[in-house]
Amino acid sequence: MVLRFEEVRKSFRDGDSVVPVLQDVSFELEAGQTLALRGESGSGKSTLLHIAGALEAPDAGHVWVSGQDLTRLNDNRRARLRRTDIALVFQQFNLIPSLNVEANISFHAALSGHVDLLHIEQISAALGLLGQMKKYPEIVWWPTTTRGYRESDCGQT
Ligand SMILES: Nc1ncnc2c1ncn2[C@@H]1O[C@H](COP(=O)(O)OP(=O)(O)O)[C@@H](O)[C@H]1O
Ligand SMILES: [Mg+2]
Repeated sequence: MVLRFEEVRKSFRDGDSVVPVLQDVSFELEAGQTLALRGESGSGKSTLLHIAGALEAPDAGHVWVSGQDLTRLNDNRRARLRRTDIALVFQQFNLIPSLNVEANISFHAALSGHVDLLHIEQISAALGLLGQMKKYPEIVWWPTTTRGYRESDCGQT
């Protein structure tokens, strides 16, 4: 089991009222399984992802990632788990402007001490970025037509 939610609750305060977003959400995801989360805008998809990614804490319930209960970890151990066991593709690119494309791609792996140059080259080739590796994000021509990776097309909404 790689991810498990048990009766997770999360609300946000909106002025004087409290908006319940996740109400007793429970599910399990085994290794190799894929889960697509659907719902209209504002239904809580991002909130659920942020909790699963250890970026936000639930108000109640428990969340296990790789067998560890996130709600019982301190900040340091949660940060370590984010580095080693969690990958998030954000709605915005969240690129680091002071790093070139190559360094942006390898940044997370570098933090973990596991940079695999061949893997980075393969990913970059698949994305059509091999000619752009030394450029900085603001001057990169991001392919939009042939294989289409516009920011607005990215999965999470
Ligand atoms: N940090 C926040 N503070 C206050 N309200 C929030 C916050 N994040 C999300 N919400 C509210 O929670 C609800 C669910 O939002 P969200 O998880 O972003 O939905 P979705 O990703 O499905 O569009 C919305 O009503 C949104 O306004
Ligand atoms: Mg969203």
